[in-house]
Amino acid sequence: MSNHVESATEEPARTLAGIAPAAASLPRLGMAAPAFEAVTTHGKLRLEDFRGNWLVLFSHPADFTPVCTTEFLAFAAIAPELRERGVELLGLSIDSPTSHIAWVLNIKEKFGIDIPFPIIADSNKEVASLYGMIMPGESKTETSRCVFMIDPVGTVRAMIYYPLTTGRNTDEIVRLIDALQTTDKHGVATPANWKAGDKVIVPPPSTMEEVEARLKAGFECTDWYFCKKAV
Ligand code: BEZ
Repeated sequence: MSNHVESATEEPARTLAGIAPAAASLPRLGMAAPAFEAVTTHGKLRLEDFRGNWLVLFSHPADFTPVCTTEFLAFAAIAPELRERGVELLGLSIDSPTSHIAWVLNIKEKFGIDIPFPIIADSNKEVASLYGMIMPGESKTETSRCVFMIDPVGTVRAMIYYPLTTGRNTDEIVRLIDALQTTDKHGVATPANWKAGDKVIVPPPSTMEEVEARLKAGFECTDWYFCKKAV
């Protein structure tokens, strides 16, 4: 029998946003992204502030490290393309605001590139814990290279995890955003290695009526279940 007596005033731990984190509630595709309020290089930001836009929330292991620096240069390069698509970038590591600011200034000085997006200073690992960004098998103190794509209504639509030693492919991040937005706009799926402008997959039929309708619809069909179309 437990001899732990819960005090009537005992409160669950709360995040900066005043939201009690659900035990081990890691993000899941198709579920609401965990709410947060965080200190960033652009002031305090909440997940809620991005509602109405897509958000690419990504973590990096540490400031002033070479692979992370190449990634920040690559994220800065795609920021205008993402913005055209209604997508905001938000970085995160457990470094302090001062460290983030010093690194951003150093990138400007050494590489001539402005980092246009905010970076969360997650010193107490609140957001990292909510999103499962620390992989203890890799590092107990650094966030791995995680990417969360959150849609304008706050649903987690895609997650990518890279290890500490592998820099991310930012073309893939733009491609994945294009795929998700094309799916939403046209109610279709996208095939392997699809790029914007390629034909898309017409979702497979689930009734005989749909089979007949699609065969008459003028799609490019290899078989009844495998049809593509241009969008
Ligand atoms: C880097 O960004 O260079 C790096 C960070 C953590 C582990 C390995 C490499």
